[in-house]
Amino acid sequence: MNCVRLVTDDLYWVGTNEHRLALFENIHPIPRGVSYNSYLLLDKKTVLFDTVDWAGGRQFLENVEYVLDGRPLDYLLINHLEPDHAASIDEILVRHPETVVISNEKAFMLMHQFGFHIDGEGKTIEVSEGDTFSFGDHTVTFVSAPMVHWPEAMVTLDVTNGVLFSADAFGTFGALDGKLFADEVDFDKDWLDEARRYLTNIVGKYGPHIQALLGKASAVLDKIKIVAPLHGPVWRTDLLYFIDKYDKWSRYEPEEKGVLIIYASMYGNTEAAAMKLASHLSEGGLNKVAVYDVSSTHVSYLISETFKYSHVVIASVTYNLGIFPPIHNYLIDMKALNLQKRTFAVVENGSWAPKAGDLIEEFLNEELKEMTVLSSRVTVNSSLNESSGRELYELAEALIESVNEE
Ligand code: FEO
Repeated sequence: MNCVRLVTDDLYWVGTNEHRLALFENIHPIPRGVSYNSYLLLDKKTVLFDTVDWAGGRQFLENVEYVLDGRPLDYLLINHLEPDHAASIDEILVRHPETVVISNEKAFMLMHQFGFHIDGEGKTIEVSEGDTFSFGDHTVTFVSAPMVHWPEAMVTLDVTNGVLFSADAFGTFGALDGKLFADEVDFDKDWLDEARRYLTNIVGKYGPHIQALLGKASAVLDKIKIVAPLHGPVWRTDLLYFIDKYDKWSRYEPEEKGVLIIYASMYGNTEAAAMKLASHLSEGGLNKVAVYDVSSTHVSYLISETFKYSHVVIASVTYNLGIFPPIHNYLIDMKALNLQKRTFAVVENGSWAPKAGDLIEEFLNEELKEMTVLSSRVTVNSSLNESSGRELYELAEALIESVNEE
């Protein structure tokens, strides 16, 4: 049975929802699943915008055939070649040998590398930024979006009705489960965290490239009426709300003035220090305080939260005279994703040779960009005592002052 949604009067969502995959890209947990969005336009010519991961192939093919209702598929337009969207290209072409594939030079190169069977005289049309193409009533134009998220990525604007097929940009984790539009859900409450986790972990490294795409979009902002990404809800209202989030994330600017505490604790003593610090912060009037155990929180959530908050406290045990491995992994991931412009404080714990503090500060100062480390480091020897407890209170005061002065 088909499962499609109408986006406009002649454009259908024909994508699929994924609930059985535990890890997106085999690395990021997706407890709420993910959607692979594909769109089918019924103009004088029929046009399929991207395909889906092969996991959703059966439903997708049923959706496409239902909407086509016997018509040929004239064009398959590929904005992004990553297999979560491109894996079903071959199957579409087997079922529709009449289809001509429209994409750009780099995407066609990748199609060959992935072994897709797209050869054939007159079966491909290569387009470049600024080109236009008409399908009848609808005319589209192409905008390259390199590194958002792969080098071949482009977005396509239907200049007739203002639908922007935005590829990975403006996507989110989370299956749609019947909903389609962002205004059909409580996005801020139920989706924003997953949208941030998706963007920051998948494309966070490429902030300048997102900025470049936003710059191109701003030039035609008045023409964009609907944003149709390859994952998550479609936007037809409040576009500026989400564009503003993308602008902040890609400039590495925090959304919230607040404190994120990430702790590593083997026997509960560093955890106790983290909780005491969080209590001081809340008592001191901060209402944006979040606390995570690094050992039980996937790093993708920690990265997302670090993008969200202005201040971060790393509270860590010393382990083998080094940094506790999950904290080290978090630091390395921050570096890989180009995370920058945050204020950090460090709480270390060591029973005979506390080293974590020095090593974490060294990493923050030397490996990451534009990080500020507050000087008021707290050292705990095994467990909090009167002296380290007082230092913790002073650290809370320093954090509150720093948050409030930003
Ligand atoms: Fe959703 Fe870069 O693929």
